Amino acid sequence: MIYIGKRLRNNEEYASIPSFDAKQLNGDYSGLFSSAYTSSDTRNLLEPAIQVIHADGNPSLDLKYVSHQQDAANQSSEILLTKIHLKDPVYPFEVILYYKAYYKENVIEQWTSIKHTETDVVRLQKYSSANLYFSSTDKYYLTHFHGNWAREMQPQEVQLTAGIKILDTKLGTRADLFQAPSFLLSLHRPLNHDDEDYGEVFAGTLAWSGNYQIQFEIDPLRNLRLIAGINPYASEYFLAPEKEFITPSFLFTYSNQGVGVASRNWHRWARKYRIPEGDGNRLTLLNNWEAAYFDFDEQKLTTLIKDGKKLGVDLFLLDDGWFGNKYPRNYDSAGLGDWQENINKLPHGIGYLVNEAEATGIKFGIWIEPEMVNPKSELYENHPDWVIKLPNRAEYYFRNQLVLDLSNPAVQEFVYNVVDRLFTEHPLLAYIKWDCNAVIYNAYSATNSHQSHLYVDYVHGLYSVLDRLRKKYPSVSIMLCSGGGGRIDYGVLKYFTEFWPSDNTDGIERVFIQWSYSFFFPAIASCNHVTDWGKQSFKFRTDVAMMGKLGYDIVVSKLDENELVFSQQVLQNYTRLKDIIWHGDLFRLVSPYRSDRDIASLIYVNENQDRAIWFTYLVGNRYRAGSNGVIRVKGLNPTKRYTIQEINIYPGTDNSTIISANSLSGDYLMTYGFDPMVDVQRPSVVLELIEHIL
Ligand code: DGJ
Repeated sequence: MIYIGKRLRNNEEYASIPSFDAKQLNGDYSGLFSSAYTSSDTRNLLEPAIQVIHADGNPSLDLKYVSHQQDAANQSSEILLTKIHLKDPVYPFEVILYYKAYYKENVIEQWTSIKHTETDVVRLQKYSSANLYFSSTDKYYLTHFHGNWAREMQPQEVQLTAGIKILDTKLGTRADLFQAPSFLLSLHRPLNHDDEDYGEVFAGTLAWSGNYQIQFEIDPLRNLRLIAGINPYASEYFLAPEKEFITPSFLFTYSNQGVGVASRNWHRWARKYRIPEGDGNRLTLLNNWEAAYFDFDEQKLTTLIKDGKKLGVDLFLLDDGWFGNKYPRNYDSAGLGDWQENINKLPHGIGYLVNEAEATGIKFGIWIEPEMVNPKSELYENHPDWVIKLPNRAEYYFRNQLVLDLSNPAVQEFVYNVVDRLFTEHPLLAYIKWDCNAVIYNAYSATNSHQSHLYVDYVHGLYSVLDRLRKKYPSVSIMLCSGGGGRIDYGVLKYFTEFWPSDNTDGIERVFIQWSYSFFFPAIASCNHVTDWGKQSFKFRTDVAMMGKLGYDIVVSKLDENELVFSQQVLQNYTRLKDIIWHGDLFRLVSPYRSDRDIASLIYVNENQDRAIWFTYLVGNRYRAGSNGVIRVKGLNPTKRYTIQEINIYPGTDNSTIISANSLSGDYLMTYGFDPMVDVQRPSVVLELIEHIL
């Protein structure tokens, strides 16, 4: 690997980049530091990308270039697939490196295929997706995102120093709970939060929903080696002759115009190539989780459905608690796994509710958590061998539940049928919220012939179920949830139209959490709900929820008149504006993470640059905190003129404080700027920009 960075103007000059021979003089004793896929146990001195034990017990691997091939992967030549074939000169063991370049979006997807024809199984001890080498930078600043329940995606930046920094997880399911598999690597200097148009940024993410490991090694030549893939922890894989092991994809983009461009690359790529219905529609909804928890019945739900209609949303989403009879799901320690309607709560079944919703004029959706089981359930009683748990050890629970063994095909069939049956029995069912609340403790499968395959086979089992479901139901909306945002990556997002970023819906917290997700994921996929969390005004929390896929999780009947009228107006505004938020470009203007400002500000601009929606919030509470002057807008057309109109105005707001401006040029707004006048009286301001045709 010779170079990663800004494209050189003259192709032939890539050949002028010193090869490893020259580097060898500088101290690469092995000639392997910059390998495109570093093998191990021959002469390699650094972290390998692959480590194997051959059928005869020999623990070494040597990979030599054999050939390569390049094909346009789609007709419009917007995608180019490069395959590089490597082989061991001694053992019949081969690797193919795949690099899929999405030219327009500037994203590269990389994965690896591993295969052999030895006389018996080869033990794969490490089998990474990607191995990259950065050699023309002197300093590397890594921003990674750690977290926990209700504290997802907390960024932290560190300068990489000699040695290895590892981002990883061993949680099995909910793999991202403590650390996301997505990161930003700022080259030469720390990430520029002050102006996202500047700086060299490499952004990477691993498309894998299980244990992963991403290693950053500053080598003795002070270059950076990046190795990303499935976590080798407890995951030795026995590969039979002729079988192919395909690693998950590592995806990356690069920008020399700051992290703003890198994010827009992801958003465009994800909407076009990854997320189902990425360019399509979404349903606003009213969820009953925080409005009722487990305490509801048919009558209450019928009222809530009507409330949803009154509010003006597209769909009512019934959350946890609707199932289980022998062990009713009236609290979170029973019933999980028994996916039959509870006859006391829902005597006429789901069908009745679907029809009620239809008759009311909205759609109906439902919550499931099909990968999990409460020990207090019929499922557990009937299929104890379907549960991941160690023999000779006491069971240990996460939210009173255990994880089903998705490496077992019978369990895959069960999970598939839970969902398929819902859709088959209720063809008008329009939405599923798929939750996943427990991590894997005591990892052990009753049926898998190799215990060390469990973590990997679990994810493959999950993907295979989701794949089947998506083939049968290609466009239905499905929300990815994992007790908040415990599982958000581009592997699983192949199957979900949207994700739940966090159970934390406090308005201020959400400004920060959604900001972090927006580095990698498009707004159309981010479910943002208005709830009772947080001390901010109802308007503030609503405005924040509007910056993505808007939803509600409130008791509508408890809203006062102003709150209800305001919500109805916002939903009408949203109908007009959602296209810009969902399919437009995002420009983050002022970061809430800046210590010298008290605000967060961002704008969505549509492709034609004739419409935009601009959100600004007060996030600090120091003396005179506020926007205190102009913010330079981005993404507009300098030659167009725009009218600016404040929207989402709370009933009773003094008219004299409402912003409205006529005919300001994009040039003016982007060069001089505009003050949204955010302060403690106006902590949340939403402005609509429309091209002013003279
Ligand atoms: C965790 C989710 O994040 C919540 O939104 C809710 O669906 C609960 N699970 C239900 O148990």
